Amino acid sequence: MLFSKSFIFTLREDPKIAECKSHKLLLKGCFLTMISSGVYSYLPLGLRVLSNINSIIRKHMNLCGAQELLMSVLQPIEIWQKTGRDKDLKEVMFKFKDRRDKQICLGPTHEEEITEIVRRSVFSYKQLPFILYQIQTKFRDEPRPRFGLMRSCEFVMKDAYSFDKDEEGLDANYEKMFEAYQSIFRDCGLDFVMVQADSGAMGGSLSHEFMVPALIGEDILFHCSECKKYFKERGSCPNCKKSLAEKKMIEIGHIFKLGTKYSLSQEALFLDEQGKRKPFIMGCYGIGVSRMLSAIAEVCSDEKGIIWPKGVGPFEINLLVLDAKLLDEAINIKDALDKQGISVLIDDRNSPAGVKFNDAYLIGSPYILIMGKKYLKDKTIDLENRRTKAKESLKKEELLSFFKKEYD
Ligand SMILES: Nc1ncnc2c1ncn2[C@@H]1O[C@H](COP(=O)(O)OP(=O)(O)OP(=O)(O)O)[C@@H](O)[C@H]1O
Ligand SMILES: [Mg+2]
Ligand SMILES: [Zn+2]
Repeated sequence: MLFSKSFIFTLREDPKIAECKSHKLLLKGCFLTMISSGVYSYLPLGLRVLSNINSIIRKHMNLCGAQELLMSVLQPIEIWQKTGRDKDLKEVMFKFKDRRDKQICLGPTHEEEITEIVRRSVFSYKQLPFILYQIQTKFRDEPRPRFGLMRSCEFVMKDAYSFDKDEEGLDANYEKMFEAYQSIFRDCGLDFVMVQADSGAMGGSLSHEFMVPALIGEDILFHCSECKKYFKERGSCPNCKKSLAEKKMIEIGHIFKLGTKYSLSQEALFLDEQGKRKPFIMGCYGIGVSRMLSAIAEVCSDEKGIIWPKGVGPFEINLLVLDAKLLDEAINIKDALDKQGISVLIDDRNSPAGVKFNDAYLIGSPYILIMGKKYLKDKTIDLENRRTKAKESLKKEELLSFFKKEYD
């Protein structure tokens, strides 16, 4: 991609509406734009990040045999009346009437709908078990939308649902998801914490939350600096008795054993081996995909800007061409890197070097390459590693083998 042809228009000034670091950096770097309070559009750079996170999620969901589907956003209120959650979620539901005077809501979550879908198609234990998932926009009229994508009224969630004939099956699927979540957050470059939580409004028996420590987090955990462990309750550490320190956390994922809460109230039943009708044993597994984007921007940054983890950012490399004569050779290098599966943004604009560096920092590519005077003299390219801060000068072939090693 050439910068001169791209829709990347970074802001010079810090946006006045910015509420925290990630919010500021995502607006300033032209990833997002705010449409109204709690409602954002993804600009091309932001969409590239979102797609990368989605690919990582899909990879691990598919690896454990989960199948992707896409449920409707428009949901008739009737499916909510069976579980009574039309009342529980009344405040957060966006509701309206269609032309036939039917009450419709924009899906705030999909437990009821998935249960209805499975009820229609699955009748026998022989069809079990399975896990279904989707990546979709959810709508919630949040009382306090905040921090950009961290808490918004329209947000992308990955929600998965498991269906089993018995508790052992649920335990196995829960374990699979528990493992997949760790792989997903690791591949997205997040330092995360897992805690067992009570399942609250969801009902059921066991749940785990996945959290990222950050000052703007809206959840709280208690940390033992000695054992490096996090706990749900305040007090002293059960292991070493040291007093625990309060830590703010961002919740990025939550998994639940639901049991029969939904299948019972929605009469979603199957015939077991003995020919008896039984409710499905369910689990549900959510990831705040768009919240992850903000959380990564919040924790993976320095004073210059975001430093996207490998494979997450819009580009892996910003190649700054500081002399127009070098553009053809820059494109050659980009093509060679493309072949290695590494995305490059060539800054070919006729702008001062300072402007190019500044934009590279705002876009957040983990590597910056510079082709200028040194290249004209002896064909060396300067490489700045944003994560380690290391700088080195390499020839084209050295550069290609460096990235081959980094990204194999
Ligand atoms: N308003 C929101 N904006 C962005 N992401 C959200 C929002 N609400 C929930 N999420 C994300 O979706 C995931 C699954 O949704 P779930 O219904 O379990 O969240 P929740 O319990 O309502 O979260 P929270 O306590 O943060 O409101 C959450 O773990 C979180 O990462
Ligand atoms: Mg909530
Ligand atoms: Zn301790």
